[in-house]
Amino acid sequence: MVKMDDIISLSKRKGFVFQSSEIYTGLNGAWDYGPLGVELLNNLKKKWWNQMTYRDNVVGIDSSILMHPKVWDASGHTKQFSDPMIDNKTTKKRFRADVLLEDHIQKLYKKGKIQESELLTEKLAKVESNDEYYNLIIEYGIKDEGSDEWTEVKNFNLMFKSYLGATEDSSSVVYLRPETAQGIFVNFKNVMESARQKIPFGIAQIGKAFRNEINTKNFLFRTREFEQMEMQYFVKPGEHLTEFDNWQTERWDFWTSLGIKPENLRLKNHDKLAHYADRAVDVEFNFPFGWGEIEGIHSRTNFDLNAHQNESGKKLEYVDTVNKDRFVPYVVETSAGASRGFMAVLCNAYDEEEITNDKGKTESRKVLRFTNELAPVKAAIFPLVNKDGMPEFATKIHKDLQRTFKTEYDTSGAIGRRYRRQDEVGTPYCITVDGDSLNDNTVTIRNRDTMAQERISADKLKIYLLDKINS
Ligand code: GAP
Repeated sequence: MVKMDDIISLSKRKGFVFQSSEIYTGLNGAWDYGPLGVELLNNLKKKWWNQMTYRDNVVGIDSSILMHPKVWDASGHTKQFSDPMIDNKTTKKRFRADVLLEDHIQKLYKKGKIQESELLTEKLAKVESNDEYYNLIIEYGIKDEGSDEWTEVKNFNLMFKSYLGATEDSSSVVYLRPETAQGIFVNFKNVMESARQKIPFGIAQIGKAFRNEINTKNFLFRTREFEQMEMQYFVKPGEHLTEFDNWQTERWDFWTSLGIKPENLRLKNHDKLAHYADRAVDVEFNFPFGWGEIEGIHSRTNFDLNAHQNESGKKLEYVDTVNKDRFVPYVVETSAGASRGFMAVLCNAYDEEEITNDKGKTESRKVLRFTNELAPVKAAIFPLVNKDGMPEFATKIHKDLQRTFKTEYDTSGAIGRRYRRQDEVGTPYCITVDGDSLNDNTVTIRNRDTMAQERISADKLKIYLLDKINS
């Protein structure tokens, strides 16, 4: 199993992910995608977008990050979007009370105290108030750096606050959206009418969301700025649970279509349902630090549309002209994290293996086994030596392929080293131009996973790659 440190160090070394504002010692909970990272992230988002919206009854939008403050009153975020926060009086560190207890469960489990860890899991699932969190922290003697001096548990609202325009007072407060979903709910009527949609239909969007998390954690897993890929599917009440089951299957298929091994994925039903939901399941990935949610699938009833209807005074009903019926639709939501999906894909692709090199020696090879579709660079082109017309021939191929694919051109080092460099960033194909290429217009093409090489006509390269990448 890959370690988190291997992923973080490879991400920085190869340009997948950098700490935000690193030269100023970094900004906690924010990350920047580097040249390869942004390609991988874009490929992941494109795959989601195409699967979601290239069909008849799901359309896309791109709503603004800043929204009217009443949106968050209606959705419940202003009052309820908070986490239970606790401070250690000695170390002055701040924690999420539930996460502190979850970490303690892990510690008990790792120490072999399985029964005790299961008992605490049960107790934690039943917690309903901040006092109950506090009591559990005291009961289990949880300490930070040896100190068990804790403050009481308080609610901490996770929305980032700002001000609209030049006046900084309560009348100009706005929030950075903590989820993209509300931009979909408030546009329900606009989209239904302009895109002439009939129920059941969905609205999808990809975009940034912001949460002032108390503790950021595990690289891209819990950050303060992240990206979501959300879809709300509007259905007739009574048909929602069948649609929920359909979406659950479809979302599972999406994650496996990214090459994620089924044994690294699981579906987890929620023990406690949010007040607006009548079913909820998480898709979880087996990260190096344990299982973690990458997507939530919720049957959200008509809670959100009703809430916006009440707050705005505008009707958000569907009128069924055939059955002479009108109702506020129910919603099945699929809410995936693009940032968490990115990290899952990266962890899933990471592999290290022993191979025998061309000199007959055993060496270790690091390889990212991305699917061809997700790989940031599709092909790398090398002239075998940097003379005798080979660079010119190879550059021509590179320029030609570059019009269709992301390709790299590399002339430095022995061919074996160039292969390793591309393996480590997951490039599925390496194309080498050698002395024969100039005589017979052929090149070798080497497969990242099998390391097998074949010789093909340079004129057929584009077709060859198109076929491999699209299949
Ligand atoms: N509209 C529903 C909603 O936002 P959520 O479970 O709070 O539900 C959905 O978030 C997804 O967004 C999660 O499954 C996760 O992938 C991603 N996500 C949530 N908070 C995150 C954070 N702090 N950092 C990174 N990703 C996060």
